[in-house]
Amino acid sequence: MVSRNPHFAKLPAGYLFPEIARRRRALLEKQPAAKIISLGIGNTTEPLTPAITKGLVEAAARLGAAAGYSGYGDEQGLAALREQIAKVLYRDRISADEITISDGAKCDIGRLQILFGGKATVAVQDPAYPVYVDGSIIAGADSRLQYMPCLPKNNFFPDLSRLPRADLIYFCSPNNPTGAVADKAQLAELVEFARKNKSIIIFDAAYSEYITDGDLPRSIYEIDGADEAAIEVNSFSKSIGFTGVRLGWCVVPRKIKFADGTLVWQDWTRVITTLFNGASNIAQHGGLAALTPAGRRETKTLIAYYQENARLIREGLQALGIQLYGGVNSPYIWAHFPAQKSWDVFEKILNEAQVVTTPGAGFGPAGESFIRFSAFGHRADIQEAMQRLQNVLKN
Ligand code: MLT
Repeated sequence: MVSRNPHFAKLPAGYLFPEIARRRRALLEKQPAAKIISLGIGNTTEPLTPAITKGLVEAAARLGAAAGYSGYGDEQGLAALREQIAKVLYRDRISADEITISDGAKCDIGRLQILFGGKATVAVQDPAYPVYVDGSIIAGADSRLQYMPCLPKNNFFPDLSRLPRADLIYFCSPNNPTGAVADKAQLAELVEFARKNKSIIIFDAAYSEYITDGDLPRSIYEIDGADEAAIEVNSFSKSIGFTGVRLGWCVVPRKIKFADGTLVWQDWTRVITTLFNGASNIAQHGGLAALTPAGRRETKTLIAYYQENARLIREGLQALGIQLYGGVNSPYIWAHFPAQKSWDVFEKILNEAQVVTTPGAGFGPAGESFIRFSAFGHRADIQEAMQRLQNVLKN
């Protein structure tokens, strides 16, 4: 018989979101008429906007004619899309030939874990998006994982003076799950720490479009020297609703090298070309449409919709006297329930209000006693959920 890959035995039983979905199904089995509202997984709910839909539809139609048909595309992704990402989103701080187009940030994180392998030492924010830890464990890095606690008392920014050197530092801003956004001084400290230690930061900017405060950095490359120390992953999922369409990108600056002098970019493109055949050409044209002036305007409007949801959630929870974080330049609200277990609060909210949330403990030990509320939802559902919570969570 085939031996099981031993790393799988070291993982928590199941990935966080399928476990939440299992508990939701269990409630429905008990109460089939329950009208469950999800403020759980960060899954977009609003339709694609017109210019972006047009970009997708036209690209699909072109494939239906001999003159417009194309098969495999450029290995690193459509050149025009890479150029527009560099220009519109990075203001040419990085160049198009440092970008690879993908099917999403999560998938790129998995491929980066293959690139760096199981021997790389890893530091992660605690709490953190589970893919950093679970993916690292699958790659074999379990005993070398260091958690960097990010709590209200340190303004959700790790104390780097206490952090031993790690090869890879995962950092997400705006943060999933806490909603905290690192400012320029904090990111400069992180970049300086990485450069001093010859570490590589894997910067997850998947929620960067939610930053409306002009003083906050949307990309790590707004920090001098970051192109020597940071890889950035990002995606169109949460900005233009491509959670199902699938489109993302990864920036691997040419200045980043391994200890033996090999460019990280060289091995990264080896991973991409060996294990991935590129993002859907239709999706890439949708991404291109999103970067036109009309697409950018529509993106702003869509983001404003979810931000208003976040405001309503904050207002509703604040009325209950709950201590809150995030939810301003981020679609996630991080609510504190002192002295309570987050899975217990999750169950109470699910069973009594029929609202799905995400228990903080699912994001790491420092997430205990917190609940994450997601602002992705139809407005009427958000309003209804907040009404139900007024009854269930009042003291
Ligand atoms: C989340 O809810 O944390 C995210 O939606 C999950 C993801 O983006 O994969």
